[in-house]
Amino acid sequence: MTVGGSRFATEENSAVPVAAPGEFSELELGQLRVWPPVVLAPMAGITNYPYRSLCRNFGAGLFVSEMITARGYLHGNRMTRLLASSQPGEEPRSVQVYGSDPVDVGEMVASLVDEGVDHIDMNFGCPVAKVTRQGGGSAVPVKPRLLARIVRAAVRSSCDVPITIKVRLGIHDELLTYLDAGRVAEEEGVSAIGLHARTAAALYSGQARWAAITALKQAVGIPVLGNGDIWECWDALRMMRETGCDGVIVGRGSLGRPWLFRELADVFEGVEPSGPPDLGGVVQVALAHADSLAAFFGEAPAMKQMRKWVGWYTKGFRGAAALRADLAQISTLAQLHALLGALPAEEPFPMRALRMGRAKRGGQQRVKLPEGYLDDMSDDTPPRGPRSSEEIEAWERANNGG
Ligand SMILES: Cc1cc2nc3c(=O)[nH]c(=O)nc-3n(C[C@H](O)[C@H](O)[C@H](O)COP(=O)(O)O)c2cc1C
Repeated sequence: MTVGGSRFATEENSAVPVAAPGEFSELELGQLRVWPPVVLAPMAGITNYPYRSLCRNFGAGLFVSEMITARGYLHGNRMTRLLASSQPGEEPRSVQVYGSDPVDVGEMVASLVDEGVDHIDMNFGCPVAKVTRQGGGSAVPVKPRLLARIVRAAVRSSCDVPITIKVRLGIHDELLTYLDAGRVAEEEGVSAIGLHARTAAALYSGQARWAAITALKQAVGIPVLGNGDIWECWDALRMMRETGCDGVIVGRGSLGRPWLFRELADVFEGVEPSGPPDLGGVVQVALAHADSLAAFFGEAPAMKQMRKWVGWYTKGFRGAAALRADLAQISTLAQLHALLGALPAEEPFPMRALRMGRAKRGGQQRVKLPEGYLDDMSDDTPPRGPRSSEEIEAWERANNGG
């Protein structure tokens, strides 16, 4: 990635060497081999089939679906099923399961295996109040025996399809759960554990604490996937080198920059990547993304989704500033084409956009847990969760972001 003779990278990454031959290995998840050892983070409202395939077209790795709630999936909710779905050619196919009832989770995993899914991740890191208040997401690892029950149900139904779990550091600094989660994962036959190195209380604020990834790697015998604040391909190499982790999970850094997966593939192969596209190139990618979203969801829902995407694609480009308000209101593909077509194609990619936050704001929260949840952390009773059709539908609507 060179601009005017120097690498297109922020200062902290200007001297990070590309991978040396043999420096890194394939990520081994059960029978599955992943090269480069790069995983697209599950992101609700983001990592649907069109986005996963867009990223995959730039580079290789593992591209995980957004979290799919077991209740909604088993209930046959139309949108849940669509979000869990794939199309021919997506290989390996990876789905993230969200559930805190072992019976549901076991059933869902069995069904996904029947569908031919190649990898299943489980969400034990979600910090959203709606989820933790019911004892789900990052609340589950607080109770290691409950975590073990849920994970065991998944592994038993998996027929050797690799199961991984994804966690945060814990609820807050006084209630760290990730090392217990690592022990449970290993004991229950999980293929790898991913760690977003922030607490649920920290949401997306501050810097991810990569030192905890090192600590987890030293504590467990299964592969560890490091996650948090990989904005440039160089960050992935630094994380692997600093923590000894076996692979990286990349989330927000890819938003509006799916070519990050090409750069990642290059640096893991030991090749200096080419620079990012100029605004004209970005527009082409954004339009291809819009077309595939429209083919998958229908034009109107796709354009509603594109309103957030165009903000990420054009982030930091001065030439897009005047049109941003209009772009945030598009409702047809034709409008999108017209507006993006009016942008100055030759504007170079802005360096300052590389590490700009995307999708989530900073800030801390007080994590909501069910009443009396911390009274008995050895309890393994699954939380109640939504049960009636109405409850499930309401939950799914809120989860899928409409
Ligand atoms: C919009 C958005 C949605 C997310 N949805 C999920 C999800 O469904 N499941 C999950 O495990 N993590 C989810 N996450 C967390 C990411 O997987 C990842 O752990 C987090 O963004 C940190 O990685 P990053 O610094 O590379 O973005 C979400 C993050 C974002 C920004």
